[in-house]
Amino acid sequence: MFQSDGDAGGPAARMDAMLAAKRRISTPDLVDRFRDAMRRTAAGVAVVTTHGPAGRGGITVSSFCSLSLEPPSVLVCIRKDSTTLGRILKNRVFAANVLAQDQSELAAAFASPATPHERRFALGQWVDTGPAGPVLVGAVAHFDCKLAHVHDYGSHTIVIGEVVEAASHDARPLIYAEQAFHRLP
Ligand SMILES: Cc1cc2nc3c(=O)[nH]c(=O)nc-3n(C[C@H](O)[C@H](O)[C@H](O)COP(=O)(O)O)c2cc1C
Repeated sequence: MFQSDGDAGGPAARMDAMLAAKRRISTPDLVDRFRDAMRRTAAGVAVVTTHGPAGRGGITVSSFCSLSLEPPSVLVCIRKDSTTLGRILKNRVFAANVLAQDQSELAAAFASPATPHERRFALGQWVDTGPAGPVLVGAVAHFDCKLAHVHDYGSHTIVIGEVVEAASHDARPLIYAEQAFHRLP
């Protein structure tokens, strides 16, 4: 990193200003390249739900993944302005439902910011008696989690859950890549 020489108008300050201007020019291009590269990166799809004092809610994510075996833990990255994130942080529990290949309509419903949470649950069959959040019948797997840790980073919050229950079912996973849903061959 360039060291400041303490002179407000000196060469170090001019270099700082030059680097800042360069960053401003290159950043939008990098964000576009980052998005393009991520679009090519295939991922599974989950609907992360929550219930409790803040009400129930759910969001479609592709960022759900395993974090640790001991203790069994998962993570999901959620945009800071997500209405579901606020509910998860207040309820302190969430359930991750990994979607099956015939559940892409659900993925679309839970990715629609204009759809109120209760209307999102109108699609599919939900069992809402678990410890963490509504569980989707026919999903490939579900993980009931208690909120263990959150970490803000950039535009998103990393939500870490300790798994209190997990189940898997005989179904094939839905895949998201190149801005579309796919089935495994
Ligand atoms: C396939 C797919 C994957 C997504 N993955 C994420 C994700 O990992 N994190 C996230 O914050 N939003 C993700 N989104 C976008 C959210 O689902 C969307 O912004 C949603 O409307 C947020 O709802 P909320 O603001 O009511 O919580 C994804 C959307 C789709 C279609």
